[in-house]
Amino acid sequence: SQCSYFKISVMCSRLLITRCRVLKQESRYHTMSALYKFQSRIQSISWRRLPTFHRNHSFCSHLGQPPSSIEELEEQDLLDLIAWPQLPSGSTLPTLCQTSDPAHSLFTIVPSQNNERWYVGDQLQVLVHLHDFKGRPKRYGGDFLLARLHSPKYRAGVAGQVVDHKNGLYSARFPLLWEGSVQVEIMMVHSSEAVAVLQRLREKRPDRVFFVSLFRLGFLSETTVCNMCLPQDQGQLCNYTDPYSGEPWYCYKPKMLSCDVRINHAKGGYLKNIITNKEALLFQSEVNVKVPIHASTTDTITVLPSRKGTADASQKSDLVTLATSGYYYQDSWRPLVGVTMRQFDEASAITQCLTNKVVYLYGDSTVRQWFEYLLTVLPEMKEFNLQSPKKVGPLMAVDSTHNILLRYRCHGPPIRFSTVMTSELRYIANELDGLSGGPNTVVALSIWSHFSTFPVEVYIRRLRHIRKAVVRLLERAPGTMVVVRTANPQALQRDVSLYNSDWFSLQLDIVLRAMFKGLDVMLVDAWQMCVAHHEPHHLHPPRAIVKNMVDMMLSYVCRDGTRNIV
Ligand SMILES: *[C@@H]1O[C@H](CO)[C@@H](O)[C@H](O)[C@H]1NC(C)=O
Ligand SMILES: *[C@@H]1O[C@H](CO)[C@@H](O)[C@H](O)[C@H]1NC(C)=O
Repeated sequence: SQCSYFKISVMCSRLLITRCRVLKQESRYHTMSALYKFQSRIQSISWRRLPTFHRNHSFCSHLGQPPSSIEELEEQDLLDLIAWPQLPSGSTLPTLCQTSDPAHSLFTIVPSQNNERWYVGDQLQVLVHLHDFKGRPKRYGGDFLLARLHSPKYRAGVAGQVVDHKNGLYSARFPLLWEGSVQVEIMMVHSSEAVAVLQRLREKRPDRVFFVSLFRLGFLSETTVCNMCLPQDQGQLCNYTDPYSGEPWYCYKPKMLSCDVRINHAKGGYLKNIITNKEALLFQSEVNVKVPIHASTTDTITVLPSRKGTADASQKSDLVTLATSGYYYQDSWRPLVGVTMRQFDEASAITQCLTNKVVYLYGDSTVRQWFEYLLTVLPEMKEFNLQSPKKVGPLMAVDSTHNILLRYRCHGPPIRFSTVMTSELRYIANELDGLSGGPNTVVALSIWSHFSTFPVEVYIRRLRHIRKAVVRLLERAPGTMVVVRTANPQALQRDVSLYNSDWFSLQLDIVLRAMFKGLDVMLVDAWQMCVAHHEPHHLHPPRAIVKNMVDMMLSYVCRDGTRNIV
C-alpha cells in the first residue's frame, strides 16, 4: 500500500544523537538549520507501518466524557433523524451492472392539477426513476440525489427536497418562487451501493485520515501518529484529552521524548487502498458520482404569476413547510426564514454595520473565507501580521478608524490543516468561554468538514460542547450575535468521496441544524445556498456565494427591531 507507512524508528533516533554530537561543535544557528535539513532527510528514509485500526463502532465514542441520559436520548434522536435506507438485507455487494446508473435513469415532471399550468406559490413535483447499468429499474432506495430548479435568464435557483420512496422511485419537490421559464436539474451524487460503502468507512475506518505531531526537545525530535482514538495495543499513548470539554485526542508516545514536548499538529495523510477494486467502480467521476439524470421528455415548465396577486408573506410561509430556506434571484440570496436580507454592495455599508464591533470567526477554512472576503472588500481593514501561516491562522484585521476588529481562529483537532502550533490548538467551546460578549460582539462558527471521516457521534459530542458554550455566552452576555454556517457540497473528483463525500457532509449538516434549532442564533444555510447556485460545487464556495453568506451575517448583525429565533 502506497500510503500506510510512517516515520520514526529507534535507528533514526540513534543516528540523530550521533549527528547531534558533531553538530554541537558548530554555532547554534547553523546547528539548527543543518539539523532540520538532516532530519528531513532521515525522516524520509526510515518509515514504520502505520498501526492498523481494528476498532468497532464504539471505539471512538466511548472515549471522552460519557453523555448524560438526556444527551444520550438526544443522540439517539439525531441518529434516527439521519438514518439512511440500508441495502436489502442479506445481499452481498452487487456487481456494477446491478447498481444505479444515472445515464439509464430518468425523471418526469408530474403534471400540474391546474390544467398543466403552474403559478408562483405552487409546488412542482418531479418523479425520478432509477435504473441500473443494464437499464433495469431499481427496486430499493438509498441513492443520494440532489435537486435544483433554476432559470439561467434570471440567475435564479432554489434547492429541491428529495423524498426516497425506497423502491427505486424518488420525488423531488420545489417551491415555485418566481415567474418565467424554469428548468429542473437532478443529479445522482452516489448510488445506494456507494453510500453503503461510505457508511462502512465512516464507522470502521476513522483512521483513513491520520494526523501527526512533532515532539522536540533540544536537538531531539520525533514525529508520531495522532488521532481521536488510537489502538492501545500498538504502543504507549500520550493523552491530550481536553481538561475542560473532555474532548479526546491522543498521539503515540515518542520513543525518546515525553508527551509534554509536543510542538505541533498536522494532517498526516490519507490512507489509500481502503476499498476493494470492485467497490472502487462505484466511485467513478462522470459515471456514477455527481452525474445528472435526464428528463424523460422535458425538464422545463413555465411559471405564471401568482393567482393570489403578488407573492406575499403568507404564501411564503406555506413554502417553509418544504424546508426551503431561501432562493437566488439575480444571484442574490433571498432567505425565506431568519432574517430580512440586505445587500451590502458598498464597503461603506459594511463598515457602518460593523463599526465598534468585534467579529470572531471560529472554525474551518469555509469561515476563514469570510475573513478573506471582508479583508478584500474593506479598504480600511488592515490585516495585523501575527506571523501565522495564512491558511492556518490565527488571523486578525483591524479598522482602527471605525474601531472594528476581525479575528479568525481554526477549531481544535481533528483539523487537517498543514501545521498548527500546539499553542494555537484550541477548542471552540473553550474560546467562547473566554469571550466577554455583548451587543458589540459577533461570533460566526463553521465546523463540519474535518469531521467527515469520523462516526457521527464524534460530531454530536463536539457540537454539544459548542452549544453549551454558546448558551453560556448568550446567558452572561445578552445581545451577543451568534451566526452558524452550515456544511456545503463540494467537487468529488477522484477519491475525494471516500474522505469528504457530500453524503458525509449532508449527514453532519442535518445534525448541526437540529442541534442549534431553537437557540437565539442565525443559521446561514450554506448547503442550500450552494445547491441552488449555478456555480459548480466547491469545498470553498466561489466569491459570489461567500458574498451572499457574509451579507446574510451582516443583515442579521445590523437588523433593526426584535431578534428572530430560528
Ligand atoms: C468493541 O470494542 C470493545 C472495546 O475494545 C469490546 O469490549 C467489544 O466487545 C467490541 N464489540 C464488538 C461488537 O466487537
Ligand atoms: C485520558 O484522559 C482522560 C481525562 O483525564 C481520561 O478520562 C481518559 O480515560 C484517558 N484515556 C486513557 C486511554 O487513559
